[in-house]
Amino acid sequence: MQTTPKRYTITAALPYTNGPVHIGHLAGVYVPADIYARYQRLQNKDVAFVCGSDEHGVPITIKAKKEGITPQEVVDKYHGIIKKSFEDFGISFDNYSRTSAKVHHDTASAFFKKLYEDGKFIEEVTEQLYDAEANQFLADRFILGTCPKCGFEESYGDQCESCGTSHNATDLINPKSAITGNTPVLKETRHWFLPLDQYEGFLKEWILKDHKKDWKSNVYGQCKSWIDDGLRARAVTRDLDWGIPVPVEGGEGKVLYVWFDAPIGYISATKEWAEREGKDWEPYWKDEDSKLLHFIGKDNIVFHCIIFPSMLKAEGNYILPDNVPANEFLNLEGNKISTSKNWAVWLHEYLEEFPNQQDVLRYVLTANAPETKDNDFTWSDFQARNNNELVAIFGNFINRVVVLTNKYYDGIVPEASDFSEVDKQTLKELQAYPAVIASSIERYRFREAQQELMNVARLGNKYLADEEPWKTIKTDEARTKTVMYVALQIASALSVLSEPFLPFTSEKLREILHLEKGENELIWSDVTAKTELIKPSHQIGKGSLLFSKIEDEQIQKQLDKLEASKKANEAMNKTVEPEKETIQFDDFTKLDMRVGTIIEAEKMPKTKKLLVLKVDTGIDVRTIVSGIAESFKAEDVVGKKVTVLVNLAPRKLRGVESQGMILMTETAEGKLSFVNPSEAGVENGATIN
Ligand code: MF3
Ligand code: ZN
Repeated sequence: MQTTPKRYTITAALPYTNGPVHIGHLAGVYVPADIYARYQRLQNKDVAFVCGSDEHGVPITIKAKKEGITPQEVVDKYHGIIKKSFEDFGISFDNYSRTSAKVHHDTASAFFKKLYEDGKFIEEVTEQLYDAEANQFLADRFILGTCPKCGFEESYGDQCESCGTSHNATDLINPKSAITGNTPVLKETRHWFLPLDQYEGFLKEWILKDHKKDWKSNVYGQCKSWIDDGLRARAVTRDLDWGIPVPVEGGEGKVLYVWFDAPIGYISATKEWAEREGKDWEPYWKDEDSKLLHFIGKDNIVFHCIIFPSMLKAEGNYILPDNVPANEFLNLEGNKISTSKNWAVWLHEYLEEFPNQQDVLRYVLTANAPETKDNDFTWSDFQARNNNELVAIFGNFINRVVVLTNKYYDGIVPEASDFSEVDKQTLKELQAYPAVIASSIERYRFREAQQELMNVARLGNKYLADEEPWKTIKTDEARTKTVMYVALQIASALSVLSEPFLPFTSEKLREILHLEKGENELIWSDVTAKTELIKPSHQIGKGSLLFSKIEDEQIQKQLDKLEASKKANEAMNKTVEPEKETIQFDDFTKLDMRVGTIIEAEKMPKTKKLLVLKVDTGIDVRTIVSGIAESFKAEDVVGKKVTVLVNLAPRKLRGVESQGMILMTETAEGKLSFVNPSEAGVENGATIN
């Protein structure tokens, strides 16, 4: 394995362009990728950090159909929103491209053609699922059915969201068209397949035998189980009209499978960037001394660890990913984030509520990152982490240092004299942090890395609390200067070390300390290598608070918003039973329904549900056993006017003969109420028709 890579090619999963991005995306993929990229740049490494919009695929055409616009209109709209969200949150892509760009169409086409010409595909006429009513082949998300592996009933044609398995649409049990709900028929069509079974040996060697023990165990484990299960050929073309046209003979009317074209988007984005910067893109993808990393969510593992590497291998000139640090999922207040249920915190909406507080969200998402298991985002945790950590630890330390330096020395860094043992120890500890944080980042443990960053601020707070410059200022001028000098070194270190995690804060802090980026800017290794990060007689700026307290009302507002989503969903999800078969008027007139009054009621012994009622039907007073005891107490129903089906054949319940039925209706939560003829003047015995 390579030791010191010459350059880093860092990719973040291309988001589908059928909706805005939310905190789950940020936590799982983009913040960790950004921390990593920023850290490598601070190490003066050569980095290409690329991403872009994934603009093909079925979800986009479905969205277009729903909204009555074209797929291009859908992607144009969301590409802009998504790109802006990433910029707003400081995700420092070198290039954010899109798969509808010409450079991508050309790159993906050429890639396909090369594989085709090299005989890497199997070309086959097979039977595929077809919706005769919609007049269309069904692939991927156009089809739903039972997953053959885990039994999940709403698996998509290409992948099961429940167990993550990727399969062929024809493997689904009970397939149904997502367009019409019809059961599809089989129809012949010609496609090109990547024979993954032929890559089993390569994958075994590369993932299982080679060096992949340093991959995260969730990633390695999934790969191993897929390879052990045996791989099959996968179609890489589709009968659809939205996508990149299949560029070979016989490909008319067909497009590349979105999961074939999208990962090539990483390559196109690199090309586009290199062209703009006057660089050569090829070393980033073809030189062994480049380190290729894919940041993704767990549902993308199979595509980045099995399919894309097999494509790269088939092409022959490309390097393979060194690591695929996939994250698990982030939940929101205990429930799965869901776009369709609007159970999400959308990035563009967050910024409206918390303007200029991007770093707070970045911080909380990293502190809670779903690195090894699914994790939960809660607004109360968000508030607590801001108030108790960012404000009380980081912000408080910087504020004290800046305020005291201005107060005592008009903002000029003082000269240190003799260092005490504590001073020396503190500075030594400070110098050790870059390596500690770096080691966590390099092992993709961003939560741990960020905790270590906070420990630097804690070190500073403890130092000030122990050395008490606000006391020594009255007695020992030289000592106070030394203490403030040391504290200013810690503050300066924080301005550098915080950059990967809290880029906006880092920039603000550099401004406050007048350590702006430029010719002599501090880099990561300086914190260890330089004994002095900020020099005596250097002028710092006036204090400005880095963080501010988040109040209960702000949090309540967010919780209310979620509650409203929940309510709206419940209302929408009330399932209305389908209409029953048509009956004739004669059928209806057979039912004899009357108005009645309950005159007595008692609980049927040893049952939960049953009440024994005496009902005045106007014809007679009769006994009716009714299963309403979970909704009503016996004493509360006496005197109620009800609707009674009187000519229902009597039947015995627990030994008591029930002579009719009281009509009831049931709410979504299972609460019963009477069908209640309560209009004034309605007499018992009146017929209902
Ligand atoms: N659009 C996919 C998703 O959101 C990810 C595509 S990643 C790429 O799940 F590799 F294909 F680009
Ligand atoms: Zn499954």
